[in-house]
This record gives sequence, structure tokens and C-alpha cells, in this order.
Amino acid sequence: MKAIQISEYVKGPLDLKVSDVPAPTPSPDKYLIEIHSAGTNFFDILQIQGKYQNQPPLPWVGGMEFAGTVLATPTASKTPSKYRVGDRVFGANQGAYATHVLVNEQTLLPVPSGWSFEDAAGLFVTAPTSYGGLVQRAGVKAGDWVLVHAAAGGVGLAAVQVAKAKGATVIATAGTQRKREIAREFGADYVIDYREKSWPEEVKKLCAAHRTGNGKAGVDIVYDPVGMIDASLKCVAWNARLLVIGFAAGSIEKVALNRVLLKNVSLVGLHWGQYARFETETVGAVWQGIFDLVAQGKFKGTAFKDESFSGLESVPRALHALGSRETWGKVVVNVVGDEKAKSRL
Ligand SMILES: NC(=O)c1ccc[n+]([C@@H]2O[C@H](COP(=O)([O-])OP(=O)(O)OC[C@H]3O[C@@H](n4cnc5c(N)ncnc54)[C@H](OP(=O)(O)O)[C@@H]3O)[C@@H](O)[C@H]2O)c1
Repeated sequence: MKAIQISEYVKGPLDLKVSDVPAPTPSPDKYLIEIHSAGTNFFDILQIQGKYQNQPPLPWVGGMEFAGTVLATPTASKTPSKYRVGDRVFGANQGAYATHVLVNEQTLLPVPSGWSFEDAAGLFVTAPTSYGGLVQRAGVKAGDWVLVHAAAGGVGLAAVQVAKAKGATVIATAGTQRKREIAREFGADYVIDYREKSWPEEVKKLCAAHRTGNGKAGVDIVYDPVGMIDASLKCVAWNARLLVIGFAAGSIEKVALNRVLLKNVSLVGLHWGQYARFETETVGAVWQGIFDLVAQGKFKGTAFKDESFSGLESVPRALHALGSRETWGKVVVNVVGDEKAKSRL
């Protein structure tokens, strides 16, 4: 099969090459998947350079998120398999930058009806991170005001949609005009350029103008995948919850805890990947919530559409684009190529 195999660490995505490696065969306990589309993540860029917290022993195939079709079910399963040959599935497993991959059942989900492989390939990480954060951790409810940072990014666009679906008003921040337009397209009520230092003032002005009571001071929930908790504490309401989702800006911030006390707010972390280990029952509840929103037409795919990435040869360009901070939503590579993709939609 074709794959982006890492035999030695590279300087950056543009050094990656497609090669022929032995194809996996049906396995006693795993599904064999033909990959159609692969999602890209910032940690893929770190991993190919040997800088990520999880480094498989060399050689290994890059990529984590995928959507595709079941080619073979586990051959030694004692119970009936959940998915059948031909089913459209998405999931996460090391080795998504390849034409085929072997995957455990618990990391597979069915592609929602009417969804493309392209959109499904970007769902596995972003949607539950944002749903789990906003619904399970921050208890978002109708009438809340939610500030979503980096709102046009992968988890950001998912957060905008979840917050809107739950009846909240969303203030979205993003660094470019195009990204702010995208945040609006996905439902944000207000958009702010957070490259302007005065952005907390802008949030406060909006809340003062449109909210009542304690809400005049700021938002009820902050969704932060960037590392902007400290500045966000300037524009939150009494009892606000600030979700620590990530540090896309590159450094782990320090927070002035006196503001946490003075404003009676909660700092809430979320580590979605660890729910499968520590709180499996919540994983099912979160996915059910997401699939319900999808069925109600309140949550749609966020695949980046300004440029297309066709074939595994385009993985280097896709990762480079992702790393350059110019893209929005999920950057997805169409592994099978355009012609084959059209015939399978
Ligand atoms: N807690 C969890 O369980 C969990 C799960 C998934 C992801 N995450 C984390 O959440 C963060 C965002 O993930 P994502 O998938 O949404 O990433 P993404 O699609 O690459 O979006 C990140 C956004 O961050 C903004 N940003 C601000 N400063 C940046 C910088 N110095 N370099 C690059 N981007 C910068 C960019 O928006 P602007 O250009 O508009 O500023 C960019 O769109 C990552 O740190 C990731 O590790 C956490």
C-alpha cells in the first residue's frame, strides 16, 4: 500500500515522502479500513519531527484521523462485529496517512448519514472536545454568553456550533478577516479581532450593551484553545467558567489567581483523549449528543474548502498549510484522489 512512513525524523512536513509499504491484512481483533480521507492535526507536525509526547518506535506511518470503508471485520471475534464490510466509518488510529489501516472497534464511529468522508475525517477529535468542554464541563445552557477563542480553528468551529445549538450567544475571536467571516458562517453572533490588544474591552462593550444584570460585566463561558485565560478574566461575568482547552499560541500561560477569586469564577480543564481511560460512560453520552445535533441539522462538517488536498502526495502541503496558520476548520486530505472520490460520494 501507499503510506507516509517515517523511518527517520524530518525537519518539517515538506520533507515527507509517499512510499510503498506492506499492506495490512485482515486481523483477528481489528477492522481493516480502506482510508478515503485523512484529517490533519498540529500534533502530526510535532510527531514527524520527533517532538510529540507520544512517539511510536521507528518506523511508523504518520497521521491519526481518518474516514473510510470497512474492508474486513475482525476474523476471530466471538461476538458479532458492530460494523459490516462496506460500512462507512471514521475514527482515530496511528497510521492515517495511508491507503489502509487496522483499527480497534472502540475507535470507530459510523459516518453520519449524508456526510462526506471529507467532513467525517475531521470529526473524531474536534467535536467531542468542544461538546465535552461546553456541555459536560461548563454546563452551557440557553441564554449563556460564550466567548470562543480561535473560533475558526478545528475545535473553535465545533465550539461555535455546539454553543449555538444549546441556545447560547457566541462572541468569536479570530486573527484574520477571512477567519472571522468563517466563524460567522458557522453561527457566531459577534466577531472580534483578538490580535488587537483591546479585545477584552470589545467583549465588555458588547456585554454591557446587550446583556442585563451581572451579565453586563462579561461572558459566562470562555472556550480557550489558545492560552488566553489570563486576559479573558478581564471580561467575564460573576460565576463564569473558563475552559482550558489548549495552548495553540505555544506557551503554557500563568494566571493571576486573585481574579479567579474576585470574580467567583471556575477554571475548568478538559483532556478529551483521557475520557476513554477514566470516564468511558461520558464518551458515549458525548457522541450521542453530537449525533443528535447532527441529526437536527445543528452541527455540520468543518473541512477547509479554500484549497483542496488530493492524494497522499498532498499530505506535506496540507500539513505545511495547517502549520502556517492560514487555514480554517479541519484541513483534510482526500487520500483516494479526486476522481475516485467523485465516484464514491
Ligand atoms: N484539551 C483537549 O482535549 C484538546 C483536544 C483537541 C485539541 N486540543 C488543543 O486545542 C488547540 C487547538 O486545536 P485545533 O485542532 O483547533 O487547532 P487549529 O485548527 O490549528 O487551530 C488553532 C488556532 O489557534 C489560533 N492560534 C493562535 N495563536 C497561534 C499560533 N501561535 N500558532 C498557530 N495557531 C495559533 C489560530 O487562529 P487565529 O489565526 O485566528 O489566531 C488557529 O486557527 C491545540 O493546542 C490542541 O492541542 C485540545
